[in-house]
Amino acid sequence: MEIVIANNSHRVYAETICETILQAAQVRGTGIAKRKPAYVISKMEQGNAVIALDGEKFVGFCYIEAWSHGKFVANSGLIVHPDYRGKGIAKQIKKKIFEHSRTKFPNAKVFSITTGLAVMKLNSELGYKPVTFSELTEDQSFWNGCQTCKNFDVLKRTNQKMCLCTGMLYDPNSNEAKQKTKVKEKVFKRLKSIKQTLFLKKDKK
Ligand SMILES: CC(C)(COP(=O)(O)OP(=O)(O)OC[C@H]1O[C@@H](n2cnc3c(N)ncnc32)[C@H](O)[C@@H]1OP(=O)(O)O)[C@@H](O)C(=O)NCCC(=O)NCCS
Repeated sequence: MEIVIANNSHRVYAETICETILQAAQVRGTGIAKRKPAYVISKMEQGNAVIALDGEKFVGFCYIEAWSHGKFVANSGLIVHPDYRGKGIAKQIKKKIFEHSRTKFPNAKVFSITTGLAVMKLNSELGYKPVTFSELTEDQSFWNGCQTCKNFDVLKRTNQKMCLCTGMLYDPNSNEAKQKTKVKEKVFKRLKSIKQTLFLKKDKK
């Protein structure tokens, strides 16, 4: 199994990805926005997507979208093929796309809207917090993406203030996120010093 940043060579999987998302939306019967192959391909070409493959078989996918001139990014379209669910693959994809988003857009707030318990759990593990929609991007093109969701009438009725999805946000400037980065830096420095000591000892022998 490989989980990698997608590129142009993965465009052959775009149809399968969209078909798998469509089928999942029909089975679940709740909010999953549909995607078009051309859009999925553009994400691959920009290096803004993660794909999981088992040999040549499609396993899973997720992509990055930037909103409000890069102030916000969303990790969207998470899908794992039914044959591969329940094996921790979504967890690995989410981790990879989150880290990739943080590297590409270090100052952006990362957000997600979802009705899925699995995604809520994964987001929480990565440090997202539940928020009202007022804390998310006001970029209208993001909310237009909800038009293909079957609950869009609810979003419209509430003037985009709420819907069946829960909003979740990772704010890199929150005290908690800053604290985590500090701890990571501390651990890294400590490891580096242990390694240096070990190598220096080896060289002296
Ligand atoms: C949601 C989905 C991506 C999960 O993929 P997966 O590879 O099976 O998930 P994982 O095995 O990595 O599980 C991650 C966590 O979610 C939990 N989980 C997985 N599927 C779940 C479900 N249907 N209901 C509740 N929890 C679920 C797992 O128990 C695990 O939690 P844990 O770490 O506490 O044990 C997959 O079922 C899917 O593609 N569904 C259809 C599309 C979809 O709903 N996408 C999300 C759009 S918002």
